[in-house]
Amino acid sequence: MTMSSTFLLLFLLLLPCSPSQANLRPNSGERLPRQLSVNYYAKTCPQVDRLVASVTSQQFQDSPAVGPATIRLFFHDCFVGGCDGSILVSTRPGSKQLAEKDAEDNKDLPMAAFEGIKKAKTVVESKCPGVVSCADILAIAARDFVHLTGGPFYQVKKGRWDGKISMASKVRSNLPRANSTVDELLKLFTSKGLTMEDLVVLSGAHSIGFAHCKQFVSRLYNHKGTNQPDPSIDPRLLKALKMTCPRFGGNADVVTPFDVTTPFSFDNAYYSNLEAKMGLLASDQALFLDPRTRPLVQILAKDKQKFFQKFALAMEKMGSVGVKRGRKHGERRKDCSIHLSV
Ligand code: HEM
Repeated sequence: MTMSSTFLLLFLLLLPCSPSQANLRPNSGERLPRQLSVNYYAKTCPQVDRLVASVTSQQFQDSPAVGPATIRLFFHDCFVGGCDGSILVSTRPGSKQLAEKDAEDNKDLPMAAFEGIKKAKTVVESKCPGVVSCADILAIAARDFVHLTGGPFYQVKKGRWDGKISMASKVRSNLPRANSTVDELLKLFTSKGLTMEDLVVLSGAHSIGFAHCKQFVSRLYNHKGTNQPDPSIDPRLLKALKMTCPRFGGNADVVTPFDVTTPFSFDNAYYSNLEAKMGLLASDQALFLDPRTRPLVQILAKDKQKFFQKFALAMEKMGSVGVKRGRKHGERRKDCSIHLSV
């Protein structure tokens, strides 16, 4: 079954119911911004946002699924060693040490998202050679796709350098899992300097995009080893998901939308779906089941503008996790997939 037929099936079954560059560090000889800034490239590449947009808008027209894929790519970059473009690096041929990209948890990130960033980098390099980091291009592209799918537009702060380290072994412990509990999610998010509110708000990115059956199939047939479905799934959704994802022998490539009502539209339906027991992952539904996070889910379900406002701020916050500045920890790669030092 293809992505579109999967979506159609679910839809049919469910529809009727309802830098500043001023901060100079003495002795370093390098211009190191203390903070990211919207105008970081004002002198060196003022048109960077426009250059990236020329690629993202075309890509979105050709293949809308690249939107959610790129937003997820940015999230996985930021959570593993900071927003430093390290997820874009390829494993060196012949090397035993795999790069982040080749970690099990990143295997399902669609190639189209990597290719889009590569294309954007090529366009940016043609106008502003050696200036803009891959990490900043990824942050700008993620914002573009939030906006292109109907979400808020926000200014992207820039000034990230690309990281020199990309290790698959760092991935697993730094990413949440589809069956993470709220306690586990909170622990992970707070370890990145993010709050409970950020967790609930950023999870709203699941308003768009798709997940493979393996991420939630145990909820359908054998919830917590009971041999029964998860009681917190709406029975109609359960039926539809079971048709898409058999217990055994299903097609591993089949995906299903997070938001069955508006899968390509970035909106707050994700939260009303949680209220209606229509969360796809256990980690999504847990945000409504847990009394600590439920009140915010309810607020965001009612107020799209509030969600947009909070989401833009939370993306800015996530986009500043672990950023690198300067040559000691960073580099500006010409090709996002290859470390300079190689
Ligand atoms: C809170 C904990 C989170 C968990 C447990 C989680 C887990 C997942 C999983 C399992 C998938 C499906 C992957 C697949 O089967 O291909 C997915 C997709 C996705 N995630 Fe998350 N995620 C979380 C938070 C986030 C955040 C913070 C963002 C961005 C701000 C995000 C953005 C996305 C997007 C856009 C997709 C769809 C990707 C696509 O369609 O290609 N997620 N996530």
